[in-house]
Amino acid sequence: MLADKDRIFTNVYGFQPWNLDAAVMRGDWDNTKALLQLGPDTIIDRIKASGLRGRGGAGFPTGTKWSFMPKAPKPDRPNFLVINADESEPGSCKDREIIRHDPHKLIEGALVAGFAMRARAAYIYIRGEYIREAETLFAAIAEAYAKGLLGKNACGSGYDFDVFAHRGAGAYICGEETAMLESLEGKKGQPRLKPPFPAGAGLYGCPTTVNNVESIAVVPTILRRSPEWFASFGAENNRGTKLFQISGHVNKPCVVEEAMSIPFRELIEKHCGGIRGGWDNLLCVIPGGSSVPLVKAEHIIDAPMDFDGLKAVGSGLGTAAVIVMDKSTDVVRAISRLSYFYKHESCGQCTPCREGTGWMWRVMERLRTGDADLSEIDTLQQVTKQVEGHTICALGDAAAWPIQGLIKNFRPELERRINEKRGGGVHPMREAAE
Ligand SMILES: Cc1cc2nc3c(=O)[nH]c(=O)nc-3n(C[C@H](O)[C@H](O)[C@H](O)COP(=O)(O)O)c2cc1C
Ligand code: SF4
Repeated sequence: MLADKDRIFTNVYGFQPWNLDAAVMRGDWDNTKALLQLGPDTIIDRIKASGLRGRGGAGFPTGTKWSFMPKAPKPDRPNFLVINADESEPGSCKDREIIRHDPHKLIEGALVAGFAMRARAAYIYIRGEYIREAETLFAAIAEAYAKGLLGKNACGSGYDFDVFAHRGAGAYICGEETAMLESLEGKKGQPRLKPPFPAGAGLYGCPTTVNNVESIAVVPTILRRSPEWFASFGAENNRGTKLFQISGHVNKPCVVEEAMSIPFRELIEKHCGGIRGGWDNLLCVIPGGSSVPLVKAEHIIDAPMDFDGLKAVGSGLGTAAVIVMDKSTDVVRAISRLSYFYKHESCGQCTPCREGTGWMWRVMERLRTGDADLSEIDTLQQVTKQVEGHTICALGDAAAWPIQGLIKNFRPELERRINEKRGGGVHPMREAAE
C-alpha cells in the first residue's frame, strides 16, 4: 500500500482547508521560482524521466507531448496550455476532488507546466455541473494573483503568466481536446479534424497543449521530490502514483491515491472493504470509465491496474474510474444504458457515430428485453467495427467498446434472453428492470 509520505494529494478528502495558507503548509508554492529557474528544457526532460503518462484517458507521455510545442513562439502566436477539467466520463470523479480540496496543486502545476512549454497563459476548462468546484477554483486563482504567484513576474521569476478558468455548459464531447478548443473560442463544441494537431494550430490557431487536471497537478511534486521518486512506483512504462475512483458494488466506494500497477484485488481489499457479498459475488468490472470494455471477474482479480496490465486483459486504464458490478447486476441493461449515454452525447458531425450510436442503442434495448433475433448479435458486433476507427473523434470508439466487451464476455447471456423470450419465460432480472 502506498505510504502516506508518498502521497501527492494529501488533502484529497478535504480534512484541511483548500485555501492558499493551508496549501502552503502542505508544501505547495514552496519556492516555485526555483522550479522555474531549472529552465523549460530541464523541466520537460525531468517530466519525461519521471515516466508520467497523461491521466485523461489515453496515457500519452506528458513530457513528450510538451516537447512538441514551439521553442520560440512568435509574439502574435503565443503558446497556450489548456487544462481539461471537463470530467464527464461516467464513473470519473477525481479531478473534482483535486479542484475542490487541493486547487493550488493544479494552479501551481499550471504555472510550471505552462512555463515549460513557453505558454503565455493557461485556460482551465471546468464542466458546468461542477458549480462549487468552479467557485473554489475561481477563489484560489484570485488568491494566487493577490500574492503575486500568477500574473506579471509570477513568483518573482520574471515570467508573465495568466491562468483563466472557463466554465463549460455540460456536454461530454467538450472533454475531447479539440471540441474543448472550439468551445473555449465560443463556438459549438464539436471536435476538429486532425491534422493539424493542437501543438501546431490549437486555441485561436496558436500552438496549444491540452492536459488533464491530474497530469498537471502532479508536476510540481515530481520536480520537488525527483523524477526517480515518481518512477519508483508502478511497473515499467506505467510509472507513478494515480488517483483511482472506485464505485459500484464494493463495501466502501472511494477515491484513493495508490501506486500504479497495484493488483485489482489489493486495491479493493485495502481501500474499499472488499466486494459486496464477497469475492465470489463479483461479476465484472469496467476498470477505466465507461468507455473501456468490461472485464470478467476471473480475469481482473489479479490484473495490475495500469495501462499495460489492463490492455492485456482486453480493456484499458482510461481515467482509472473503476466500476465494480456484482452478480445482482443486469449487465445487459447496464451496457445498454451506457449506449444511450453515447447516443445522447454524440455531437452528430460524422455519420457512423450519429447514426451508429442510436442504432446500437436500439439493438441493445432489444437484446435487453430479449426481443432481438439471435443473428442480430453478430450484426451488432459488425456495426461496432464499422463505427470504431471511422469517426473524427474517439467518441465513436467509446460507444463501440463497451458493447464489444459485452458480446465477448456475455454472449451466452444475450442468447439466453432471446431464447427465453421465445420460450415465453421471463428472466427475473429483466422483470425487475421493466
Ligand atoms: C469524447 C471524449 C471525451 C473526453 N473527455 C475528457 C475529459 O473529460 N477529461 C480529460 O482529461 N480528457 C478527456 N478526453 C481526452 C482528451 O481528448 C485529451 O486526450 C486529454 O485531455 C489529454 O490529457 P492528458 O494527456 O493529460 O491525458 C476525452 C476524449 C474524448 C474522445
Ligand atoms: S465521433 Fe461522434 S462525437 Fe466525435 S466528432 Fe464524430 S459525431 Fe461528433
